[in-house]
Amino acid sequence: MKAVIFDLDGVLVDTAKYHYLAWKKLAAELGVNLTEKENERLKGVSRMDSLKIILSLGGLTFSEAEMNRLADRKNSWFVEYIDQMKPEEIFDGVFPLLNALREAGVSIALASSSKNAAAVLKNLLLENTFDTVVDGTMIKESKPDPEIFLKAADNLGVAPNECIVVEDAEAGVEAARRAGMKAVGIGHTEQLGEAELVVDHISKLSYNRLKSL
Ligand code: BG6
Ligand code: MG
Repeated sequence: MKAVIFDLDGVLVDTAKYHYLAWKKLAAELGVNLTEKENERLKGVSRMDSLKIILSLGGLTFSEAEMNRLADRKNSWFVEYIDQMKPEEIFDGVFPLLNALREAGVSIALASSSKNAAAVLKNLLLENTFDTVVDGTMIKESKPDPEIFLKAADNLGVAPNECIVVEDAEAGVEAARRAGMKAVGIGHTEQLGEAELVVDHISKLSYNRLKSL
């Protein structure tokens, strides 16, 4: 284990909730009831891919210009939520884990499909915490494509099989596996069963637990 690559939304902080609330509001306007179960498919994928999933749930088709407008509308609500965020919202257990990894000489990376990741990191005062950050503005394909994790490993100069990914999204666990990395799921085995280890909260992870993988 030379590096641990962390997802952001739903792993370090509960921004997954804000994505869900904003998508649910947009879906409702379109006459689609977005349930928490269906929302699992939206986690980790790009903004446009998320919108396309919602439109397919409702059997709806829109022009590209209309889809851009809808995605912008969702994003404006999401940005209102994250503008209010404070460092206290970082999940318990995050700093002890990051510090233990650092002390052991393990690199730490952040890899988020979100184009808002830089703003979230800034509001949480985490902008200088990671050895490398790869976000939605830096990749061509979002999760479940492995590009984001491979880019993070490349930036760190480590091989994919020396990395462990920490993810709350099914698409993220798949991306890790396709990158040739081990994955730890934060959530339920129902969605994240392909991961090497699934825990319900990041506070359950320790340096030793990750190393034992
Ligand atoms: C991921 C979230 O981190 O970022 C997804 O899990 C979200 O739910 C994606 O759709 C893209 O985020 P943004 O901020 O670019 O719309
Ligand atoms: Mg996530």
